[in-house]
Amino acid sequence: MTTIIETRNLTKIYGGHTRAVADLNLSINEGEIYGLAGPNGAGKTTTINMLITRIAPTKGTAIVAGFDIVKKSLEVRRVIGVVPQDFTADEDLTGRENIMMVSQFYDVPRAKARENVENLLKLVDLEDAADRLVRTYSGGMRKRLELIIGLVHDPRVLFLDEPTLGLDIQTRTQMWNYVRDIQKKLGVTIILTSHYLEEIDALADRVSIIDHGKVLITGTPAELKGSLKGDIINLTLSDQKGVDIMKTMPDVIEVADAGPNAVRIKVANADEALPRVINYISSHELSTVKLTVEKPSLDEVFLEYTGRSIRDDEGGADARKMAMNLRRART
Ligand SMILES: Nc1ncnc2c1ncn2[C@@H]1O[C@H](COP(=O)(O)OP(=O)(O)OP(=O)(O)O)[C@@H](O)[C@H]1O
Ligand SMILES: [Mg+2]
Repeated sequence: MTTIIETRNLTKIYGGHTRAVADLNLSINEGEIYGLAGPNGAGKTTTINMLITRIAPTKGTAIVAGFDIVKKSLEVRRVIGVVPQDFTADEDLTGRENIMMVSQFYDVPRAKARENVENLLKLVDLEDAADRLVRTYSGGMRKRLELIIGLVHDPRVLFLDEPTLGLDIQTRTQMWNYVRDIQKKLGVTIILTSHYLEEIDALADRVSIIDHGKVLITGTPAELKGSLKGDIINLTLSDQKGVDIMKTMPDVIEVADAGPNAVRIKVANADEALPRVINYISSHELSTVKLTVEKPSLDEVFLEYTGRSIRDDEGGADARKMAMNLRRART
């Protein structure tokens, strides 16, 4: 595996006191989709802005595709593509004209640019809309156009800052397929930030959860979810007597009441525990109304790591507020 981005004690202090990014060390592999997740103000955008050489680090540095972001910023800019959070395409031009204009900006030879345009349009299913004015595009189409505008100069790394913010859930999942396709077909490395943790879960090969400008944990989404060690088995029985019997079940982490005739059984691993639970039910001749299994989501991982690390300092209230918002957002 080749490392394409490596940050070395990357630090940004705004105005002499706001430590937005603090001795950040990330190592990103060529060709992977890498997610950065974290609460508001965690330092995600600041990190990206340093990596794309929009702002200079206060301390430390990073190597992007072989170039030092401080000493070789021009070279870095040539090998990266950026899809900013805000819409940048010109509404009074067609999709194709926008792409050609940016190609020109990057000095892509005209013939090559024309060939690229067709491939890029096809990649996000915009061929039919290519010659329409962008002002007639839907929100999803605009985002797709932005995505390929970031790719006109064949970058090796593509930065996506909140690529689906504000889109409805259907359009968002559609975008995920395009992002996956782009990574697969072009082999480009993608750095992604998102407030939607299910988006990171769906797209990222690896993710770092950051807060206060520091990495709290890094791993594949599956590793992070697995690290929580706790699946939930929700069980509804036909009467309260059954509930009381379930509460005596051995070798589970916890059994708690969960509404009328229902229990919530926490186990280390539901795949392993489910047969035991079912045996226990049948050996006590209980009748089951409903049984569901809940695996932890990245939201739970996020709560666990950001919540616990912050609780001890003055940021505790912030962390709890964020956790509340996340819980609310999920229901
Ligand atoms: N230009 C700036 N001047 C001063 N402080 C800034 C500036 N930009 C960001 N900050 C501060 O730096 C910290 C990190 O901000 P940053 O925008 O990187 O976070 P983020 O993780 O991208 O947050 P969000 O999820 O809200 O996009 C915050 O405390 C923020 O207020
Ligand atoms: Mg941001």
